[in-house]
Amino acid sequence: MALLPFCALIRMLKDKKIILGITGGIAAYKSPLLLRLLIKEGAQVKVILTEAAQEFVTPQTLSVLSKNKVIAGFFTENNEWNNHVHLAEWADLMVIAPLTANTLSKMVTGNCDNALMATYLSAWQKCIVAPAMDKEMYEHPGVQSNLQLLESYGTSIVPPDAGELASGLFGMGRMAEPEAIVAHIKNYFSQYLPLKGKTALVNAGPTYEAIDPVRFIGNHSSGKMGIAVAETLAYNGAQVTLVLGPSSQTVVDKNIEVIRVQSSDQMYEAMVSNYAGKHIVVCSAAVADYKPAKASTQKIKKKDEGIQLKLVKTRDILSELGRSKKKQFLVGFALETENVIEYAKGKLKAKKLDMIVANSASEKGSGFGGDTNKISIIDKHNKIINFELKPKAEVACDIVDFIIEHLK
Ligand code: CTP
Repeated sequence: MALLPFCALIRMLKDKKIILGITGGIAAYKSPLLLRLLIKEGAQVKVILTEAAQEFVTPQTLSVLSKNKVIAGFFTENNEWNNHVHLAEWADLMVIAPLTANTLSKMVTGNCDNALMATYLSAWQKCIVAPAMDKEMYEHPGVQSNLQLLESYGTSIVPPDAGELASGLFGMGRMAEPEAIVAHIKNYFSQYLPLKGKTALVNAGPTYEAIDPVRFIGNHSSGKMGIAVAETLAYNGAQVTLVLGPSSQTVVDKNIEVIRVQSSDQMYEAMVSNYAGKHIVVCSAAVADYKPAKASTQKIKKKDEGIQLKLVKTRDILSELGRSKKKQFLVGFALETENVIEYAKGKLKAKKLDMIVANSASEKGSGFGGDTNKISIIDKHNKIINFELKPKAEVACDIVDFIIEHLK
């Protein structure tokens, strides 16, 4: 299967080509549900049924749901050959659910007495099965050793659930639920994600610099752009640590560890202590450049005369990361109101970055708060790519695609 270093991966099963093989067991009633889930996820599915499976589920139902012709034998109704070799070549994956004890034993011995088996023998190197049978059948030593053999051939097995079986018995053997099979399929595809095995550190959002316990100096950053980058890195297989300033946005992705911080000092500590060993580091946070020299421990009371705040410079997190860079691919952002490219190039060099994402706060639809952004990417050879105004999720795809390309 070809690698997909592209944001189609945001929906992992989108446009994936899957053969769904259905064998003759009562669990076949769940197969149309599995098919519906796969279609909903954007997969293209072609269904093959054994003769016995047609006793449990009709080709018509599966044809309507899959929006494809269903293969139910070696030949079509018009006596045309169902070319199983082409079908196997077309597919990214073959899923057999349910898998009966009978088909399991044929798969192990390489028996080829129906169209499903012929297709399996052509597609066996990319196959997932979901066995379903009665408890005693499942526990039979021959069935167990067949499962082990099949696994040793490289087939991935979605284990059955325990529960009430069609026979009325309780025990192992019930086919895994369609949702669990879909999760297994996604896991299978995730091994091909371009950032699989890579770690990333991202910061996002504003920082709040305390004046006193109730007031702060902050900025309008929402954190949306950096969160979109973190999510896109995770969708592409990276294990992401996100250091997030005080943003109202929520992040729900099990591959993203979120560290919440308030001030630039806390963000500095979190970034520096999580920096070592990361493959990709993206600093999109709008870190305050100045903070009060001393935050009052008590609320500052109103006086008739004005007050003067003494501000001191914050530490530049990105510059520190650039200075101590080992093998990290380091990405910065530059938000400018004028001379965007020129200032961004200056930051790229001064902070020792591998690339910088430049955007203009004065461009309509770009910058803080909104859902769109218009960026230019500059790499360390000063090559510039300009992008159109687009939703931040798509901008994140452009940024991550660029990172993937440069990591190759
Ligand atoms: N940055 C940082 N720490 C700071 C200030 C900025 O890590 N104290 C990072 C930002 O996260 C961004 C990059 O530096 O990736 C550029 O930030 P920006 O605010 O555009 O520029 P500054 O370096 O702060 O310079 P200026 O405000 O003068 O444009």
